[in-house]
Amino acid sequence: MSTAAVPRPSGPARIALRRVRADDAPAVRAAFAASADMGRQGDVSDLDSARQYVDWLLTGGREAVAITVADALVGLVGVSVDAGNRSGWVFYWMHTTHRGRSLTSRAVATVCDRALAPVAAGGWGLERLELGHRVDNPASGAVARAAGFLVEGRERAKFLIGGERVDVLAYGRLRSDPAAGTAPLPWQDA
Ligand SMILES: CC(C)(COP(=O)(O)OP(=O)(O)OC[C@H]1O[C@@H](n2cnc3c(N)ncnc32)[C@H](O)[C@@H]1OP(=O)(O)O)[C@@H](O)C(=O)NCCC(=O)NCCS
Repeated sequence: MSTAAVPRPSGPARIALRRVRADDAPAVRAAFAASADMGRQGDVSDLDSARQYVDWLLTGGREAVAITVADALVGLVGVSVDAGNRSGWVFYWMHTTHRGRSLTSRAVATVCDRALAPVAAGGWGLERLELGHRVDNPASGAVARAAGFLVEGRERAKFLIGGERVDVLAYGRLRSDPAAGTAPLPWQDA
């Protein structure tokens, strides 16, 4: 999908997407501190570790997109790019105070539309995106489906969490799959 039709930020809430910046570290720290379920998203416990997490986001072939309210990061969509295979691994999280507003669904759909668009159309030129979520994290599955991902399989007993083995659902979305159809969020730096 072309990103040309994505609206510019507007309205009092000014919810938008932009690249993650080094000065987002305090907001990252706040999101990790706000909810115990952020624990598996990274090792962030203070400002120093938040800075290291942001450094990790900004290196190693990753695309890191901040979901922002009035330019302040409240959530994240990341894509670890496998350039050789023109594919990417997608991950996301939202500060607990902004959950349940469809912002993550819209952000992941918008980022994945751009990731799968050809370079000539302003996209990142990827042809396949992948993600996975634990079966006991249905909100993540709802986000994935809203962003046009299809379930491709079940990885049985993949993780050991609290002494129990937990299955993971594997999802994929191809460039040739139907567009998500979820209302996009605007790009602040379009
Ligand atoms: C998963 C997460 C990103 C969802 O963020 P969010 O901003 O609440 O997502 P959205 O509001 O866009 O959508 C949430 C969807 O999950 C649904 N949902 C929420 N809790 C649910 C539950 N217990 N069972 C079923 N669906 C649920 C909501 O109804 C909504 O679906 P809908 O839009 O069809 O109504 C957020 O909970 C989070 O950051 N969790 C911690 C990190 C994480 O787990 N990341 C994903 C790793 S795979």
